[in-house]
Amino acid sequence: MISVVILGAGNLAIHLFEAIDKADQVSVVQWFNRTLNPIESYKNRVAITNDISKLVDADVYILAISDDAISGFSEQLPIHDKLVVHTSGSVGIHDLDKKHRRGVFYPLQTFSKDAEIDFKDVPICIEALDKNDLHLLKDLAEAIGCPYYKINTEQRQMLHLCAVYVNNFTNQLYRIAHEISDAKGISFDVLKPLILETAKKVQTLSPYMSQTGPAKRNDKKTIKKHLKLIENKDHKAIYELLTDSIKKTHGRQKL
Ligand SMILES: NC(=O)c1ccc[n+]([C@@H]2O[C@H](COP(=O)([O-])OP(=O)(O)OC[C@H]3O[C@@H](n4cnc5c(N)ncnc54)[C@H](OP(=O)(O)O)[C@@H]3O)[C@@H](O)[C@H]2O)c1
Repeated sequence: MISVVILGAGNLAIHLFEAIDKADQVSVVQWFNRTLNPIESYKNRVAITNDISKLVDADVYILAISDDAISGFSEQLPIHDKLVVHTSGSVGIHDLDKKHRRGVFYPLQTFSKDAEIDFKDVPICIEALDKNDLHLLKDLAEAIGCPYYKINTEQRQMLHLCAVYVNNFTNQLYRIAHEISDAKGISFDVLKPLILETAKKVQTLSPYMSQTGPAKRNDKKTIKKHLKLIENKDHKAIYELLTDSIKKTHGRQKL
């Protein structure tokens, strides 16, 4: 049985707690947050605390706190020579304080408190300075039913960058389409099957092979018409930039 202390109570920590709580081979022995309010309602299921001096003994301490707080908070932890991992895509393993056995347990997924998530769809990028600790993180990922990948800090930071493209930027494009469709009294629902099909297609075809549309076909008349229809100048700039990028990609080599 792997014992875990979760530190933090935000979007990720809430889901992590539920996933670990369901697993047979792992247990959350304590949940810390600097404010008790977000974890108060869990007190019948797990020991909760906001007192850092009262941390209990565990195999792994998972810091699911804001990126900027990780380094300083790891210094304040009154534990030594314990496996402390953070869950961030962009923070280095060496940003954790040296007094700990250090590791990373980065779930490459998007978590919001109220959106359900199945951990079998959560790839975990694991890293540790020590071989045995890496093994422990593998066991932990397996126990919660997650696929896992051994990824070093440099690779993880690049993956995090890729995630911004495929998740945040794509979502911002949904937002623009939502604004445009709303302004014309069209339900965003009409676009949802297309959104799903686009995401589904890249599961079997490369993004290069999946591309369609006026920019790929270099359909100049349609592109001109679209540019005339766009009222917002930021939306227009994004359309032009992406059209140009697609044109360049499809005039050049495949990936
Ligand atoms: N959400 C995602 O989709 C996602 C995905 C992958 C990885 N991650 C990583 O998971 C970590 C947590 O992200 P999140 O989205 O769960 O964040 P979040 O919802 O904003 O929650 C942040 C948590 O950090 C705590 N915190 C902030 N500053 C602190 C400090 N100085 N000392 C101690 N605790 C502090 C907050 O405590 P209070 O409640 O007291 O404010 C809160 O519990 C980050 O490293 C993030 O990169 C997130």
